[in-house]
Amino acid sequence: MRLSHLSLGLLPALLPQALATTTYKTHNFSAPIDHFHNETRYEPHSNSSFNLRYWFDPQYYKPGGPVIVIAAGETDGTDRFPFLSQGIVTQLAKAYNGLGVILEHRYYGESFPFADLTLKNIRFLSTEQSLADYAYFAQHAVFPGLEEHDLTASATPWIAYGGSYAGAQVAFLRKVYPEIFWGAVSSSGVTAAIIDYWAYFEPIRNFGPAQCIDAIQTRVDFVDRILIDHAENETLHAQLQAAFGFSTPINNTDFVNFLSNPLGAFQSRNWDPAVGSYEFRHYCDNITAAEPLYTPTNYTALLPGLLESAGYDKRNKTLLANLRNEIGYLNSSVQSYLEEQAAAQVSDVATSGSLSKDSGTSWNYQVCTEWGYFMPGSTVPEDIRPLLSRLITLEYTSNVCPETFNIDTAPDVSQVNKHGGLDFSYPRVAIIGGVADPWRDATPHAEGLPGRESSDSEPFILLDIPAEDVWDGIRGGVHHWDQNGLSEEEVAQGERPPWLVEELQEEIVRFVGGWLGEWDQTGGGVADL
Ligand SMILES: *[C@@H]1O[C@H](CO)[C@@H](O)[C@H](O)[C@H]1NC(C)=O
Ligand SMILES: *[C@@H]1O[C@H](CO)[C@@H](O)[C@H](O)[C@H]1NC(C)=O
Ligand SMILES: *[C@@H]1O[C@H](CO)[C@@H](O)[C@H](O)[C@H]1NC(C)=O
Ligand SMILES: *[C@@H]1O[C@H](CO)[C@@H](O)[C@H](O)[C@H]1NC(C)=O
Ligand SMILES: *[C@@H]1O[C@H](CO)[C@@H](O)[C@H](O)[C@H]1NC(C)=O
Ligand SMILES: *[C@@H]1O[C@H](CO)[C@@H](O)[C@H](O)[C@H]1NC(C)=O
Ligand SMILES: *[C@@H]1O[C@H](CO)[C@@H](O)[C@H](O)[C@H]1NC(C)=O
Ligand SMILES: *[C@@H]1O[C@H](CO)[C@@H](O)[C@H](O)[C@H]1NC(C)=O
Ligand SMILES: *[C@@H]1O[C@H](CO)[C@@H](O)[C@H](O)[C@H]1NC(C)=O
Repeated sequence: MRLSHLSLGLLPALLPQALATTTYKTHNFSAPIDHFHNETRYEPHSNSSFNLRYWFDPQYYKPGGPVIVIAAGETDGTDRFPFLSQGIVTQLAKAYNGLGVILEHRYYGESFPFADLTLKNIRFLSTEQSLADYAYFAQHAVFPGLEEHDLTASATPWIAYGGSYAGAQVAFLRKVYPEIFWGAVSSSGVTAAIIDYWAYFEPIRNFGPAQCIDAIQTRVDFVDRILIDHAENETLHAQLQAAFGFSTPINNTDFVNFLSNPLGAFQSRNWDPAVGSYEFRHYCDNITAAEPLYTPTNYTALLPGLLESAGYDKRNKTLLANLRNEIGYLNSSVQSYLEEQAAAQVSDVATSGSLSKDSGTSWNYQVCTEWGYFMPGSTVPEDIRPLLSRLITLEYTSNVCPETFNIDTAPDVSQVNKHGGLDFSYPRVAIIGGVADPWRDATPHAEGLPGRESSDSEPFILLDIPAEDVWDGIRGGVHHWDQNGLSEEEVAQGERPPWLVEELQEEIVRFVGGWLGEWDQTGGGVADL
């Protein structure tokens, strides 16, 4: 089995480990395994219940305040602690005496309905079942220590916040359960499920440093000319792979897939150095450096001949320097890549019949059944110089579906897109995006769509931070950059987010305040539509 391509991008949405200084007490909430006894896809149905984990922070809560629930999305709920201790949800809780809550998603973290995960019992993992969990929670939750307050949705306004997949979820929650969720802030919310999501790389191409993007495109073209234009010459392929550190040739598609790994670092960028990764900038600085950064090996001596075979000028010093530095940069991960591949093959055999209980497996199942988001290079339009090889086909990127789940049919994206897809809109749902977010084209902020007028009822905001205001010097507004925030200690030390982030967070606090004012005016709990 191959390793999944770019981890399908959504995982991890951020790298919050560095920030998880605050922890919260774990609580269990019992929910039905099967909310939809009327749907044949879940047969045989279940009447049992299971525990969803949740955590809350009562420090800002005062009677009458709202519940602000963070949809934890496709990861362990504890990974979201930094979004409860600081950031936009904390600001909202502080401003409005609110109770900040994280509810874990079914089949993630420890919220699995079954002790052993199998191809059969994973069937209750779906978007609608998870949405129903959140609705059921909002209707029935009793928070230990706050039992004297009715914090259920009939008596208290519930505001849902989510980023990325969870951003789509909270948007859908508001639309599917308008009488339960009073408002939702959907940040980088991927409301459109898209099977062939080649467009993932477009914001990288359009907003990455120009010289770096050009170097990547040139390397991709060079490699593709060898592997595609000289498809039959295996000697040449072996030389190419050797030049990049693979002394024993591997599958050519796996090889070019490996070369695309650094692109994943673009999404991990964040305005806060404690949260985000600098690795994309490192990669760019490596592959555009004029001076040699690594000791040349006897393998790099193969480069000029390979360039000539590909129709490139073998005396071009810039080109040679770029490629040698990229080879040196990638070389440090060749060994671990080979080891991971070997391990994946072993575990494949070992786990046949049952599935491993981890976020990657659960998200892949969601991808294979409902969401898609396969990211090939082969379908990038011909007039675009791609950032990854055209050898990477849709079939290759979706291989995990037949291999892990025996699923041979395309995902049923209508399960997601019936809520509106790119056209999604709903009163009291804010659509927040980032101009350079690889997920942008799966959101209502997709390039090429007509813009929308932003209003207090339906805020529509695209974050666009100039390169000079981002610590890695790359233009931003990437993946839900409004969600995280600085700790009180960091603020006390004089740290500040980029002012556009600060302004966006203030704006979110303002319009959510307006929504809460509407709740008060209607006497609360009255269905508003
Ligand atoms: C929650 O439920 C799980 C079983 O689903 C159990 O193992 C765990 O101890 C419970 N945790 C708490 C805090 O009650
Ligand atoms: C099942 O019930 C839900 C509401 O609970 C409804 O939205 C859905 O359309 C129903 N499905 C069928 C097949 O009737
Ligand atoms: C679930 O409960 C219903 C109503 O009590 C019953 O008809 C059905 O057989 C039960 N299903 C299972 C799987 O136990
Ligand atoms: C394969 O490429 C090598 C290196 O350019 C060349 O020497 C050889 O003739 C090619 N083989 C074939 C069969 O074209
Ligand atoms: C990769 O690094 C190893 C040592 O870590 C070295 O032996 C090898 O020559 C390097 N290969 C390339 C292509 O740079
Ligand atoms: C490499 O892997 C791809 C996808 O799994 C497959 O289609 C292709 O035939 C393989 N190539 C070789 C040379 O085995
Ligand atoms: C090249 O990349 C490495 C690994 O990320 C990094 O430590 C180093 O600083 C980079 N070199 C330059 C010149 O940016
Ligand atoms: C590179 O060196 C290794 C051992 O150091 C040797 O096995 C290999 O044949 C050499 N490759 C080339 C292209 O000279
Ligand atoms: C050399 O290669 C660089 C990087 O690909 C390219 O920008 C430049 O135009 C090339 N120079 C010549 C003279 O071809």
